[in-house]
Amino acid sequence: MRVSIAGIGSYVPEKILTNFDLEKIVETSDEWITTRSGIKERHIAADNQATSDLSLIAAQRALKSACLKPKDIGAIIVATATPDMLFPSTACLVQTRIGAPRVIAFDVSAGCTGFLYGLAIAESFVNNGYDNILVIGADILSKITDYTDRTTCVLFGDGAGAALIKKSDGEDGILSSYFTADGSSWNLLWQPGGGSRIPATHESVEKRLHYVKMQGNEVFKVAVRAMSEAAVKTLEKAKIPASEVALLIPHQANIRIIEASAKRLNIPMEKVLVNIDRHGNTSAASIPIALDQAIQEGRVHKGDLILMIAFGAGFTWGGVLFRY
Ligand code: UT7
Repeated sequence: MRVSIAGIGSYVPEKILTNFDLEKIVETSDEWITTRSGIKERHIAADNQATSDLSLIAAQRALKSACLKPKDIGAIIVATATPDMLFPSTACLVQTRIGAPRVIAFDVSAGCTGFLYGLAIAESFVNNGYDNILVIGADILSKITDYTDRTTCVLFGDGAGAALIKKSDGEDGILSSYFTADGSSWNLLWQPGGGSRIPATHESVEKRLHYVKMQGNEVFKVAVRAMSEAAVKTLEKAKIPASEVALLIPHQANIRIIEASAKRLNIPMEKVLVNIDRHGNTSAASIPIALDQAIQEGRVHKGDLILMIAFGAGFTWGGVLFRY
């Protein structure tokens, strides 16, 4: 059964943190951040905003765009690395707040690839008789970012994106997807503290173990290969050449990763959605925010082939090809 994206919505917090603001916090420069990452500014959540708050607004916007009501939702999946709390899931918090009682609700932990993993799970739910699956990618990385560490704090932004997945009654829908993971590099991008390995103690806080740690240049090398692999395998499964892709929506981690991936696929940059300059790396929210933007700006048309590819902590990576 073909499964399509019936609606999409996103939300980013109001507060903007520019590279010039960061110059006042750590030893960095607008020039370094722009040339090394492509980021100029990012949105940062307010102190009283948690991931379910951002998710709720994005979800309500997605419902509106799909012309659906909360009672129509069949399941809620939230992909996040920064849940409101370790448990219960952020999806359960969204479920009660949006008003969709007694539907399946759970979180997915797959780093920046989480939204795409969520889409694949939603697709199998639809194939098993559920419909109108709400898939949310949302993260507030600013709350686990060490603003004394210039190697990470310049990269991340906050946001949420949501999509409604349903049975397709036309030619539109997901054509193929590809997913994988390589856990052997788990400690190149991670948050050491706060789980059962290193529970919160005074010592763990003093050692700053509750913040994101990343070996940026190591991650970079794998990311380029993995994003390209995700694209090639996803296209191969659908037997569609890259030249037929109308829009490539890559996870927004670094403009150099995006450009290198597009080049390997021979896809010109005019066909690539780039918004990293305004959002930074919003982790699981990055792809649905970009997709929402592409639709709002009229960059996708009925019948277009859209390829989404992502790479993130785990490592996890994958791609989803769909016809709009
Ligand atoms: O979301 C999914 C996973 N994440 C990613 O895919 C991110 C992948 N990694 C990257 O995007 C890049 O590696 C970064 C943007 C994080 C870093 O760029 P890089 O070109 O790999 O730089 P680097 O880490 O090799 O550092 C180069 C230099 C170092 O100085 P030395 O040792 O050459 O003297 C760093 O200390 O740049 C220095 N540096 C900075 N300088 C100014 C690192 N961060 C900064 C900074 N401002 N913010």
